[in-house]
Amino acid sequence: MQASRFLPGLLLMLFALAAEASEIPPAFEGRRLFTSYCQLCHGPDGKGDGPLAKALGIVPADLTTTVRSRSDTVLRKIITGEGRQFITGRTRHNIISDKMPEWKGIFTDEQVDALIAYLRFLSKKKHDLMGDPERGMQLYRKYCAVCHGEEGDGHGVMTRLIGLHPMDHTNPNETDRLDNEAMVHSILEGKGFMPAWKGILSREDAEALVSYIRLLSRP
Ligand code: HEC
Ligand code: HEC
Repeated sequence: MQASRFLPGLLLMLFALAAEASEIPPAFEGRRLFTSYCQLCHGPDGKGDGPLAKALGIVPADLTTTVRSRSDTVLRKIITGEGRQFITGRTRHNIISDKMPEWKGIFTDEQVDALIAYLRFLSKKKHDLMGDPERGMQLYRKYCAVCHGEEGDGHGVMTRLIGLHPMDHTNPNETDRLDNEAMVHSILEGKGFMPAWKGILSREDAEALVSYIRLLSRP
């Protein structure tokens, strides 16, 4: 009796939580995890020059080049350590040396997917990240999602109401055409029906937004 009264509210809450989780772009989530767990060895840009690597005297791979030829399945094996060995005839081979820690049981499947999305981003990106994407996400939700959509795909509430066609920020073919400076400029000065934000947002804000927009790219 009591339970059934609360059930609808509980379901709504769960839906809200699910919606919140799905709005975090995979590469953005992957960058968070990478910053906490991987950059110590692999370096902030994945080039292999992290501070711990120097201390341990090891040379981690330059992920911006090696990851290109690896399938998602192999990357998953490398990261979790599960099935890192493969067998040809009688000999076992390691895909990589065991200097790379095995992260089995530490990440959920979704987190491993997010890490892989960020590794793909690192190996494909045409423009470096500028500004703080964490701040960028907050600003994007507050000011931009209404037209560009929560997920950045250009389907915001306002788009339907007044028939606008904002840029699809999840499509790297569209966003890569603009370098960082051009994007900052469009945000601050406006472009067509896209409002100029310079009275409301600082240059630093615009840089943070550019960084977040880059991480919205779908592979
Ligand atoms: C303690 C240092 C260390 C940490 C922390 C670390 N790695 Fe590594 N990683 C290495 C080393 C060393 C190699 C190179 C092993 C080799 O080439 O045989 C490597 C290799 C890799 C490779 C394989 C590159 C290739 O294609 O050959 C991937 C992918 C990778 N690491 C991802 C990650 C991710 C994701 C994290 C964070 C969850 C992480 N690493 C954290 C040391 C580290
Ligand atoms: C009122 C709706 C609206 C809002 C709000 C909005 N945009 Fe846009 N945005 C557009 C439209 C429409 C375009 C396409 C403009 C064109 O090419 O004519 C666009 C294009 C862009 C472009 C590409 C510009 C170029 O040079 O091609 C960027 C980058 C962008 N928006 C970022 C943002 C950011 C960041 C925010 C939040 C601070 C934001 N937008 C908020 C409607 C909006």
